[in-house]
Amino acid sequence: MSASQQLQAEQQPQAIYLKDYKVPDYLIAKTELHVDIYDGYTLVTSNLSLRENPAAQAASQLKLHGTDLELISLAIDGKELAANAYEFGEESLTIKNTPAQFLLTCVTKIFPEKNTSLEGLYKSRTMYCTQCEAEGFRKITYYLDRPDVMSEFTTTVVADKKFPVLLSNGNLVGQGDLDNNRHFATWHDPFKKPAYLFALVAGDLAHIEDSFTTCSQREVTLKIYVEPKDLDKCDHAMTSLKNSMRWDEEVYGREYDLDIFMIVAVDDFNMGAMENKGLNIFNTSCVLAKPETTTDVGFQRVEGVVAHEYFHNWSGNRVTCRDWFQLSLKEGFTVYRDSEFSADMGSHTVKRVEDVSLLRTLQFAEDAGPMAHPIRPESYIEISNFYTLTIYEKGAEIVRMLANLLGKENFRKGTDLYFDRHDGQAVTTEDFVAALADASGKDLTQFKRWYSQAGTPRLQVTDEYNEDTQEYSLHIKQSCPPTPECQQKLPFHIPVAMGLLGSAGDLPLYLKDAEPDFETGDNTHKVIELTQQEQTFVFTRVQEKPVPSLLRGFSAPVKLHYDYSREDLMLLMSRDSDGFNRWDASQQLALQVINDVITVYQRGENINAASIDSRLIEALRSVLQDESLDQAMVAYMLTLPSEAYISELADIVDVEAIHYSRALVRKTIAHELRSEFDRVYNGYDHQQAYAVTADAIAARSLKNVALEYLMLLDDEDIIRSCERQYLTANNMTDVMAALTQLVNAKAELAQSLSGNALAHFYEKWQAESLVVNQWLTVQATCRLPNTLARVKALEVHNAYDSKNPNKIRALVSAFCNNNAINFHDAEGEGYKFLADKIIVLNKQNPQIASRLLTPLTKWKKYAPARQLLMKTQLERIMAEPDLSKDVFEVVSKSLA
Ligand code: TRP
Ligand code: ZN
Repeated sequence: MSASQQLQAEQQPQAIYLKDYKVPDYLIAKTELHVDIYDGYTLVTSNLSLRENPAAQAASQLKLHGTDLELISLAIDGKELAANAYEFGEESLTIKNTPAQFLLTCVTKIFPEKNTSLEGLYKSRTMYCTQCEAEGFRKITYYLDRPDVMSEFTTTVVADKKFPVLLSNGNLVGQGDLDNNRHFATWHDPFKKPAYLFALVAGDLAHIEDSFTTCSQREVTLKIYVEPKDLDKCDHAMTSLKNSMRWDEEVYGREYDLDIFMIVAVDDFNMGAMENKGLNIFNTSCVLAKPETTTDVGFQRVEGVVAHEYFHNWSGNRVTCRDWFQLSLKEGFTVYRDSEFSADMGSHTVKRVEDVSLLRTLQFAEDAGPMAHPIRPESYIEISNFYTLTIYEKGAEIVRMLANLLGKENFRKGTDLYFDRHDGQAVTTEDFVAALADASGKDLTQFKRWYSQAGTPRLQVTDEYNEDTQEYSLHIKQSCPPTPECQQKLPFHIPVAMGLLGSAGDLPLYLKDAEPDFETGDNTHKVIELTQQEQTFVFTRVQEKPVPSLLRGFSAPVKLHYDYSREDLMLLMSRDSDGFNRWDASQQLALQVINDVITVYQRGENINAASIDSRLIEALRSVLQDESLDQAMVAYMLTLPSEAYISELADIVDVEAIHYSRALVRKTIAHELRSEFDRVYNGYDHQQAYAVTADAIAARSLKNVALEYLMLLDDEDIIRSCERQYLTANNMTDVMAALTQLVNAKAELAQSLSGNALAHFYEKWQAESLVVNQWLTVQATCRLPNTLARVKALEVHNAYDSKNPNKIRALVSAFCNNNAINFHDAEGEGYKFLADKIIVLNKQNPQIASRLLTPLTKWKKYAPARQLLMKTQLERIMAEPDLSKDVFEVVSKSLA
């Protein structure tokens, strides 16, 4: 290495390792903040009661975190420090010769108006707000900004009276007027918390108010604050909040602990929402909902995110993380909790299908790419990059397996013990598993490998049936592909829920050397636990050759391979007692059929309806005729595996082959089942009043799937009905469904109607930012040619704002992630477009820039020509000066 290369290497951001964890040198018993907001700048005065941590070695110097701060003054026990008493480091301040216990007073000046990173204190439209997780508090004042430093906060917010609402965590303990048309509010949070849970808001906000009586009869005031124009869109979030509070009492025995719970909606937000103690801050997209502006998916998202943030009050706040390697301790557990809540509010099978679809397409892809990491990572460069599908969704799957392995009662005992044992502490995933093991007596030693080994395990299943002995054997082999930091994996502990199907349905299960189970059911369902690389399970008294129904309910986050015939899959689709596996069989059958077409396409032959196995058509016809099925399940079974899922399963992604083959299968289904789809569409009562019940949502989704198929037929009458639905629907779900079909239909009539509809839509909704976002997305995801040009035109439209994350997601991210055929343009125009955006955002908002990189990180999955084009753009980004840690980490790992 040359000297200059060495220098460059040293300047590169450094990784932080779990193995280097040390307890903090100092603790902060109390934190008093005084935040003075002025136009253009804010003064922050902090008073920290510090003392040496008895668990640490005497330090006698104090290193505080701080980023982009202007230090105004610094004093110990009221005595101003001389400039040589402290030293600035990179993003830190070290005070030398500190006593064992003292009061540190620090004044910093910050510039929220100029803060485009949306981390720390910033301004969103008309209001000031904060986002501190993971390490944003250090952009407000110098602090021990790490989750194992927990402190009791008192916060005074001071601002001009043009910001009438001044909020922070906990209870309001004082307020009043000051000179110069200013006023203040003081908030005290009695619960110790890490700085990442701190929040403040100042703005001219309206609110709705309600109350909740807890299980011990305490009254809690509930308030949702929004910009006045959004006051009519808060009811659904309020209902969801009350449902969450009741559910957490009933299912986990968790009661809310302050007298007030507040939610504030902000328009500029990097993620979905944030669980700050007593003061949740939400992306408007995750709170606001009303039928005219919000789709069913939007309503469900609000319910899920409100629940998620509320549940964090226990899983995250009362019991928090020791360090950021433990992030899944709170996120995986809380996602599991919110997912079960949503399932209880609607349908378990439907929710499971939705969660598993997300996991299998996006999380599996992450686990197979350059950013793969275990749910408890060993190292990171920038923690913001680790708020991933792996930490959240796979983390939730690991908790789900634990819950299922322990059973309902023992799992509840385990979580009770966990909350009880660790209340007020900052702990690790080890502590979580230990509580579950202690309460249940279950040995979870091997299970813990799920926390440390990345990658999606693969199960290879073969079987044989012996007619003479009536024995049936299942052989299961597990393996796990190598991931960047781990080449060789030890076997996982994998619960496989299963049954055996005979010609008339489920067969009784007599597993050799195990007791039959007539207690919890009819002995047709079993969970077999894999612990070795290879295992065989023998069933006796099996009277006919069965079809195995494996991994019921998706009992483990693995890829299961069993050589099902198409007849087997049709049997599972129509007969399995497990609703999830009925759906999964439909997906596997469709995949096989699509893969047939892909093979023909790749041979360079013409693909046409003759290449399509009619068994798929017949199976789907039966699904449409099956009155016993939930309509939401019918809709999902009729929906073919997405291009993203097919791509994830492929070794090399052939964008065109996948796109055109899937499209052909869809079109063939539309032709063959036309009368069934007509019956569904025309049988639907389009005049009915709108409701957001599970049944109403299911009926709408099935009807709209029927419309989607019918619109593939290029039929003038259907196109007119679709336009009618667009014009007359009383809810956004049906409006968007119709608009999406018009925009994507090739027929000239549809194209001209869609032009009118898009213009009409914008005209009508231009004042509703969240609705405009849907309008942007519908255009960005149009699969017809020239979409990139349209996206570029929209970037300069009034509807767009290149600084607002929701707009970026609606336009740029939608195009790059949900429009493969256009993003993967053969000349690389899509890649170049994305890299251009990332280079600008790298300076403006590194978190968003880094997230946008995802599609480029998958470059190794494509054929050489595309690989080169994608890699070229990654290298172009890498060569940029002043790369943020966020972008540097993802790009460098992708190129490694
Ligand atoms: N903890 C939040 C949640 O899962 C998400 C979160 C983490 C976040 N980092 C953030 C939100 C940064 C906004 C910005 O609920
Ligand atoms: Zn969370």
